[in-house]
Amino acid sequence: MAFASFILFALLLLQVFIYQSSFLFNFTSKWTALENDHKTVVTPKPKEDQDGHPSLDPSLNVFFKVTDLHIGKTMPIYFASDRDSTPTRLLSRSEADSIPFSSSKLPYLLEFFSFSNTSPQARAMETTLKQCELKPTGGEVKFCVTSLESMLDMTRHFFGTVKPKVLTTKILSSNHTLFQNYTFVERPLEMHASKVVACHTMAYPYLVYYCHGHKGHLTRVFKIALFGENKERVEAAAVCHMDTSTWDGDHVAFRVLGGHPGSSPVCHVLPVDNVVWFA
Ligand SMILES: *[C@@H]1O[C@H](CO)[C@@H](O)[C@H](O)[C@H]1NC(C)=O
Ligand SMILES: *[C@@H]1O[C@H](CO)[C@@H](O)[C@H](O)[C@H]1NC(C)=O
Ligand SMILES: *[C@@H]1O[C@H](CO)[C@@H](O)[C@H](O)[C@H]1NC(C)=O
Repeated sequence: MAFASFILFALLLLQVFIYQSSFLFNFTSKWTALENDHKTVVTPKPKEDQDGHPSLDPSLNVFFKVTDLHIGKTMPIYFASDRDSTPTRLLSRSEADSIPFSSSKLPYLLEFFSFSNTSPQARAMETTLKQCELKPTGGEVKFCVTSLESMLDMTRHFFGTVKPKVLTTKILSSNHTLFQNYTFVERPLEMHASKVVACHTMAYPYLVYYCHGHKGHLTRVFKIALFGENKERVEAAAVCHMDTSTWDGDHVAFRVLGGHPGSSPVCHVLPVDNVVWFA
């Protein structure tokens, strides 16, 4: 019962960015920036400059080293906050259950949402559905949720009787700049976390979270306070993956930070509205 009431409290926080007024999102007007959507978990292929060196997309500036986590550190960070191209609310379970969520139903879904099958939206939906259908490997949990109720059920199932806490990334100023230098203005606060589930928003006509996590001390969770060059304040969740030995050698994090699978921990900030549950 305590867990249930805690969850309700956590949801009040989530409700700040989830509004419940209309059933489906106005896709056509809001879904214009999908070509630039970097929220999918699938690793983007880096572009190359004339000399054949990878030229890094600013949006890849979310990775950093565990040794960067100290007060006074300044680094460029990209905080995706494309509320115009991302749906901002979760459906209720009955709404979500009324729409199939399977790559085998893609033709039906494209018709349902009125997207041509060559549109960027169609490609994004296919990528999201495929990502959600990947099976977890080696002690990991992976799941996608399309409603608040299913996020809570899955989270409760993972944490059992332990009450998880939740952190999210919030822009505290109205003049947000996507990419700029930020300084750590407070000592990064490490959270005690022996079980962690991070949930990332995915490109889809309604809000879909891809959640993944595991038990054990493989992930460290931090709450960080940042101050932008334009004086903007951000309170962010950051996670450090302490063991990258099972990662793909092509993972963008290694292009950004150097190194290779297993060589050193990889940290990253969570984009706005992403959520990390931990206990
Ligand atoms: C959806 O957005 C378009 C373009 O901004 C607008 O013309 C239309 O009225 C909107 N539809 C709804 C149902 O809000
Ligand atoms: C951004 O907003 C903060 C307050 O939230 C203000 O102090 C700062 O001057 C603003 N920066 C610009 C460039 O407008
Ligand atoms: C961050 O600061 C460095 C050093 O002043 C500068 O070279 C770089 O262009 C800045 N990056 C951004 C994204 O503003």
